[in-house]
Amino acid sequence: MAETMFDQTTILHAVHTKWAGKTVHFAEEVDSTNEWAKRLSREGGVHGALAVAEFQSAGKGRLGRKWTAPVGSSVMMSILLRPDFEPRLAPMLTIVMGLSAAQAVERMGIKACIKWPNDVVVSRKKICGILTEMSVKEGKIDYVVIGCGINVNLEALPEDIADKATSLCLETGKTYDRNKVLAKVLECFEGNYEQFEKTKDLTLLQEDYNRMLANYGQTVRVLDPLGDYEGIAYGINISGELLVEKADGERVCVGAGEVSVRGLYSYV
Ligand code: BTN
Repeated sequence: MAETMFDQTTILHAVHTKWAGKTVHFAEEVDSTNEWAKRLSREGGVHGALAVAEFQSAGKGRLGRKWTAPVGSSVMMSILLRPDFEPRLAPMLTIVMGLSAAQAVERMGIKACIKWPNDVVVSRKKICGILTEMSVKEGKIDYVVIGCGINVNLEALPEDIADKATSLCLETGKTYDRNKVLAKVLECFEGNYEQFEKTKDLTLLQEDYNRMLANYGQTVRVLDPLGDYEGIAYGINISGELLVEKADGERVCVGAGEVSVRGLYSYV
């Protein structure tokens, strides 16, 4: 099958939103769409502007890792936001995007879960990663950039991550139109962001998120620099912290910055 075109024009045609992704910047190659979105912000980029690339020469993952994807295989995009709220609330937007990407995958007809806080997982393997960056000036948010990488038409994975990662194509054997995948994420994100703005927390999204949370009601291992422990995960609270109940009954609110959480038997 001939590959569907994926460029600024096709993306603009596919996206039916009010503000999220109404301005699209597309490049065949860029260092990182997050870096590009930050540059756009310095040049006066508007709230909701989107940077998309076919290839990233210096794609960034969380914790200083690299994010690489072959041409034609992925959606790699970063949305520029200029929120009007306090900087301490911005990390919750990562959760808002994680939920949106998971919902978009489900709208493609594929059962998805969220590995807290924001990896989207299919068949217990990661299909989407999110990297949020923020700049604060004089105590106010200057910009928030949320980068999202989705494995769409990837047909094979390097051996070292084959048991931890997957793609829409590997899951179903079908090829997907990346314009539609991108558009679905933005449509979900716009709605979820507007819900978030109403309360400035996750009150209106918590239920949807917890329904998709991997390991809900199951034992997880919390990898805490101050000492690992196990407990049962009971979903997120309205701040996005994971609630974990230890064997002695103590309930802990786990913050995403400090620790990572694993199920007992796989990456998820
Ligand atoms: C993770 O480690 O899970 C986060 C990966 C985020 C990758 C995306 S791809 C688009 C955007 N640009 C980047 O350089 N990184 C994010």
